[in-house]
Amino acid sequence: MPKSGQKSLLRALRGEAITPPPVWLMRQAGRYLPEYRDVRRKAGGFLELCYTPEMAVEVTLQPIRRYGFDAAILFSDILVIPDGLGQPVRFEEGEGPKLDPIRDTAGLAQLSDERMHDRLAPVYETVRRLSQALPQEVTLIGFAGAPWTVATYMVEGGSSRDFAVTRAWSLSDPEGFGRLIDIVTAATADYLCRQIEAGAEAIQLFDSWAGVLPDDAFQRWVIEPNARIVSALKERFPDIPVIGFPRGAGVLYERYIEQTAVDAVSLDTTVPLSWAAERLQPKVTVQGNLDPQVLLAGGAALEHRAREIVATLGHGPFIFNLGHGIIKETPPENVAQLLDIIRGSEKN
Ligand code: CP3
Repeated sequence: MPKSGQKSLLRALRGEAITPPPVWLMRQAGRYLPEYRDVRRKAGGFLELCYTPEMAVEVTLQPIRRYGFDAAILFSDILVIPDGLGQPVRFEEGEGPKLDPIRDTAGLAQLSDERMHDRLAPVYETVRRLSQALPQEVTLIGFAGAPWTVATYMVEGGSSRDFAVTRAWSLSDPEGFGRLIDIVTAATADYLCRQIEAGAEAIQLFDSWAGVLPDDAFQRWVIEPNARIVSALKERFPDIPVIGFPRGAGVLYERYIEQTAVDAVSLDTTVPLSWAAERLQPKVTVQGNLDPQVLLAGGAALEHRAREIVATLGHGPFIFNLGHGIIKETPPENVAQLLDIIRGSEKN
């Protein structure tokens, strides 16, 4: 085993500029791959897939075998935290996640971390098996949802367009809503420590709905909980890099970086490349941010944009990724085309 410091993705996370840049894609395991759909069919439910190490390992490895990405991301979901805390999650075909919503402080009584690690033990087992099974140059990324994003699902009872109930609770009773955020923050920090103990070499925090909050609420519900999680992880595992993904944060990406102490930020599709190069990259490693629609389109549009991203961000610490998860209709051959473009990029 080489020193983990020699893995290209970890080197980029420690601040090195690498040519060609390391690459992985959010949702690289998933429904755009026929081999994923086969395992998914056999698993029955989506959570059964997440909680069965044999199958979760298999779908994590599928995109590594097919494309040779520089990182594998644990196959799981951000909603295993509410599920582990005692708010059961169901995934209904074509409808996304469903939970019985928690809408006030009385609803918090059902949440407990007492049995959480038993429920989530299969996830830790998946991480352990992956750290054995992965090729030695591939970095194993663990992850969790950030508290605000996870809380929106817990309060709305599923996906939402406007997060009206969550925002209303956070505004009318910030203390009560803050207790929910505190519960999720503590559980998430614990959960991530266990992933690291099991072999995760880097962590990504997904705050997919950070971008709906005005700056004062962003401070309280995004920056503060993310900072608390980073600090809890760093206290125990100072050498494990953390990537934050406050999707849609806009100019607040800067404050997020300064105040959370993340090692890297994942840029969403809307972040201008030159602004990221000037304002963000001098402070942290940046990751991103190809529009998943461009990957879906493929062809000349993909070639042009992928090259532009590498040309603008590739001179500093950089990891190539999408600006959000892969779209399920994406032709698998477009992903192969993307890797050819990036890995040929040192010649341009
Ligand atoms: O390859 C990977 O990136 C690792 C696995 C992963 C999944 N979800 C698998 C998954 C990761 C990192 C996630 C994160 C996640 N889950 C987020 C944050 C990132 C983002 O996309 O913004 C969020 C918001 C969720 C919650 C979630 N999970 C929703 C809303 C849905 C339903 C929507 C859909 O696409 O069906 C899921 C289901 C889910 N999570 C699937 C996968 C592969 C599809 C389920 C299936 O196979 O039937």
